[in-house]
Amino acid sequence: MLKDLLFEGKEMLLQNIQDPFKEIPGDLKLPFIGSSLEFATDVNKVIIKNLEKYGPIFKLRVMGYNVIALAGPDANKLILHDDQENFLSKKGWGFIIGDLFKEAIMLTDGEEHTRFRRIMQTAFHKMPMIGYLEVIMNEVNHFLDHEMAIKKDKLIVYPEMVRLTMKIAGKLFFGFEFSEKDLNAIVEITAASMWPIHLEIPFSPYQKGMEARRYLTKRYKERIKENRRNPGDDMFSQMCVAKSESGEMFSDQEIINQMIFLMLASHDTTTSTLTSILFETAKDSSWQEKMRAESIEFYEKGSLEYGRLKEFKTLGLVMNETLRLHPALVVMPRYVEKDFSFLGHQIPKGSRVAISTYATHIMPEIYPNPFLFDPNRFSEERAEHKKVPFSFIPFGAGKHICIGQYFAEMEIKIIISQFVRRFKWSIPKGYEIKYKPPLNAPTDGFPVRIERI
Ligand code: HEM
Repeated sequence: MLKDLLFEGKEMLLQNIQDPFKEIPGDLKLPFIGSSLEFATDVNKVIIKNLEKYGPIFKLRVMGYNVIALAGPDANKLILHDDQENFLSKKGWGFIIGDLFKEAIMLTDGEEHTRFRRIMQTAFHKMPMIGYLEVIMNEVNHFLDHEMAIKKDKLIVYPEMVRLTMKIAGKLFFGFEFSEKDLNAIVEITAASMWPIHLEIPFSPYQKGMEARRYLTKRYKERIKENRRNPGDDMFSQMCVAKSESGEMFSDQEIINQMIFLMLASHDTTTSTLTSILFETAKDSSWQEKMRAESIEFYEKGSLEYGRLKEFKTLGLVMNETLRLHPALVVMPRYVEKDFSFLGHQIPKGSRVAISTYATHIMPEIYPNPFLFDPNRFSEERAEHKKVPFSFIPFGAGKHICIGQYFAEMEIKIIISQFVRRFKWSIPKGYEIKYKPPLNAPTDGFPVRIERI
């Protein structure tokens, strides 16, 4: 442990007194600080600025490390579709979230990752998904009709979406209602991952995050035995009994590690996407009306079934366009295991690179007029995202592509289709949403005027 810390400390020091990427465009700025403060307030602005000034490859210094950002379909293919294990996720993500989410599937590579993926995949097969659909539907209907906090005609969207998706996650992922302490633990772990000093200094956010991790570890451990003996339909139970085709299962500690990570991977990403959809369709209410008409017709035709989700065509277009403009995960970091070159620049082994989802999504050569919210870009006739492979990567690509993509799309479609049937919402002219990292939570919670239909 101490050896690791000393090694990390030495590496970080070297990163800050030298610039090994002299010929790569970009500005590392001050040692240690670099672009961290701008990054922590508006990641997208940093990306737009650098992309405009330097093009699809540029260097920056974030959280004390030098990182080379890469953008565009070629970079996405090279780094994410990586059969040779040249770009590692464990050391890529490790310096940001490694100690808080250790041994989580996203922080593994090679055979270990394949094994985790094979087992975890079983929780996302069609049969369990059909079971999840019913639970989500019931929770959503109950929440929207009886629990959502509307004060006079005001709704603060983000915290209410957090409450709703946490309720769903409690039932679906764990099979029990979350307590206030469980919810706080998850929030504290996420906040700790963004804290720049990963040392357990008393009362620091990092210390609170590690404490929260210990609390959840104990809480989950207590339930594993029972889940293995008497599994429910929830994802936690599924992980406890999940077996790959060759009979491999997760150990207790592996289950705990995956469950702690699943809450980060699934929860804030989905909540921020839901909020962004409600923002874009408040700004351009014609899309709100189209979604409403589609949902009313959908539910008039019959009840919701897994096989019918694809009938939400307008909602699908709106969801994709929202994920293009507001991808919940704006960067995907990797550690370079073998020297490589990109656009004539040599990048040595040992470098840290990051794929910028957002930068690819706003390239005008792929998406003309890129800052315009225009869901029809994803229509069959235009399909701008399909003209060049690896142009649309809100769920990543390659080995680590989001395992919960279909689950997330299902949850979003159910929530939005039910929300839009019941409510009309609007924002003052000129209002723009502002997000804080790491996963795009709006700084003001996103207040709207709302009326029940
Ligand atoms: C709108 C919602 C979501 C978005 C935008 C999203 C995005 C992503 C992205 C971009 C990655 C790849 C990261 C990388 O390659 O470095 C990823 C991985 C992952 N996501 Fe999601 N995600 C969402 C929802 C979910 C949900 C609902 C779950 C689970 C129920 C989930 C579970 C995971 C897991 C386990 C991984 C790691 C996969 C691996 O390493 O093999 N995500 N997600």
